[in-house]
Amino acid sequence: MEATRTTVLCVCSVLFALTDVGCELIHIRSSVHHGTKGKDLLLSVDARFPPDAAEIQGSWSHINVNGASTILVSFNKDSKIIDMMYRKRLDFKEPNASLSIRNLSEDDEGYYKLSLNIEFHSEKGTVKKEERTIHVTVDEPVSRPVIERKPSYTVIEDKANVTWTCSVEKGTRVAFRWLRDNVLLTPSERYHFTQDKSTLLISPVRKEDKGTYRCAVSNPVSQIMESRGVELNVYYGPYNLEVNSGQGLRTGKVFTINPGELVHFECQADSNPPNSYVWISKSPNATKIITTGPQLQVKSDELAQTEDYLCRAFNNVTKKQDEAQFTLVVASLRTVKEKYADDGRSTSLLAAIAVCSSFIIGFMLLFLFRRACHPKRVLMNIYNRPFSEQKRPHRSGHEDAADDFGIYEFVSIPGKMDSTQSSCKSLARLESIQDMHTTIYDVIRHVPESPSASLLK
Ligand SMILES: *[C@@H]1O[C@H](CO)[C@@H](O)[C@H](O)[C@H]1NC(C)=O
Ligand SMILES: *[C@@H]1O[C@H](CO)[C@@H](O)[C@H](O)[C@H]1NC(C)=O
Ligand SMILES: *[C@@H]1O[C@H](CO)[C@@H](O)[C@H](O)[C@H]1NC(C)=O
Ligand SMILES: *[C@@H]1O[C@H](CO)[C@@H](O)[C@H](O)[C@H]1NC(C)=O
Ligand SMILES: *[C@@H]1O[C@H](CO)[C@@H](O)[C@H](O)[C@H]1NC(C)=O
Repeated sequence: MEATRTTVLCVCSVLFALTDVGCELIHIRSSVHHGTKGKDLLLSVDARFPPDAAEIQGSWSHINVNGASTILVSFNKDSKIIDMMYRKRLDFKEPNASLSIRNLSEDDEGYYKLSLNIEFHSEKGTVKKEERTIHVTVDEPVSRPVIERKPSYTVIEDKANVTWTCSVEKGTRVAFRWLRDNVLLTPSERYHFTQDKSTLLISPVRKEDKGTYRCAVSNPVSQIMESRGVELNVYYGPYNLEVNSGQGLRTGKVFTINPGELVHFECQADSNPPNSYVWISKSPNATKIITTGPQLQVKSDELAQTEDYLCRAFNNVTKKQDEAQFTLVVASLRTVKEKYADDGRSTSLLAAIAVCSSFIIGFMLLFLFRRACHPKRVLMNIYNRPFSEQKRPHRSGHEDAADDFGIYEFVSIPGKMDSTQSSCKSLARLESIQDMHTTIYDVIRHVPESPSASLLK
């Protein structure tokens, strides 16, 4: 032990002599100490040489936050003088010049400066000076935070602001953080924090602000402490209104149901509190409320061939409502399905034509764009397609309306395009699936008023 110390000393001395900077003769473990109020603080010093290898003289002084300096203790080989004011609270450890302060108070904050004169016995006449400064903070540990919400009642989306306040009974230099469902919240357009972050203002409040809020506090001398969670409930909606049915065949907003079938519809929307629902039947002559509640039961026997319905959801707290309209078509689904099966061959033919047409249209589009958009030319090409290429000719009479299922995109091409008014854009749109759907509704909606029996085979 003694040997290694001597070695260190030798190495240091050599380095010191060579570079005039040298390695440390004393070492401070950290230049910042976080002290706890009422507790003790040790400013420890590691001497990098054996205590009896040198004569030491020095002092510890305190520079408080206002810059006032006090010599706490000065010492040499034989004696130490401790400032009277600190006599009861200071403990000076002679062998290594460490200083211990008992019962810390806020006044003990500031800088502690150690100055040493060191004269090695082996180098009489050469005094080395060492100085170290340590920054000391004194804090009171934080107590468990308490969270408060204003207003305390449930708020309505977009119509209210919510203020969260976090407070601690004890603690200094408290750092506040906010969590919703354990996710840290940061300032944003609607989230405003006070400078110390002890208050969070949500303005205005939205559906997505629902959740469990907590605040977390910490300081240099405390672990993170979390408040209990407080729920925020928000009245909102209705959103995403949807009408669904397990029965029938659905195409966009059109439900096709079998004659005689009893069909259930369900209306759903995201809302808090839950919506009240109203089902409305719309006919050219009259609009009437059929029933209330999320479910509708329809007996197709009692219906006209097509009928328009409306589900209206109303949130009686937010006073907002939303509605979804849909069309009910009574037609023999079995027949339709069989038709699809029978037409398997023609369906594949259709598919082939569809692919070819898309290809042709695509090709023409390319051609078009290359030739700086000449819609008329392209339209001519479409019109001049041989009539036989169209699967079914356009019928003048609708003796069998059920025949109308299946081929709409082709039937409607000429109709869809307002001949010369068509632009390159509208041609491009023809290719989109969206457009095909629109076309399908169009045809179904125009099933003529005829006894439903004639639809059946
Ligand atoms: C300094 O001396 C005191 C008292 O002997 C001891 O408690 C402390 O651990 C020493 N510090 C270092 C850094 O050696
Ligand atoms: C610590 O200091 C405070 C004043 O700063 C004093 O009231 C308290 O009695 C002291 N505690 C001890 C154990 O000396
Ligand atoms: C919510 O805060 C905004 C400012 O951020 C203010 O203009 C508005 O009046 C407040 N609304 C309510 C209901 O207090
Ligand atoms: C609708 O009104 C027309 C005349 O205004 C009438 O002929 C027709 O029967 C009415 N339809 C229904 C379903 O009431
Ligand atoms: C809102 O509707 C619910 C049922 O959906 C009802 O219980 C409540 O009393 C209504 N509140 C008001 C203010 O109408």
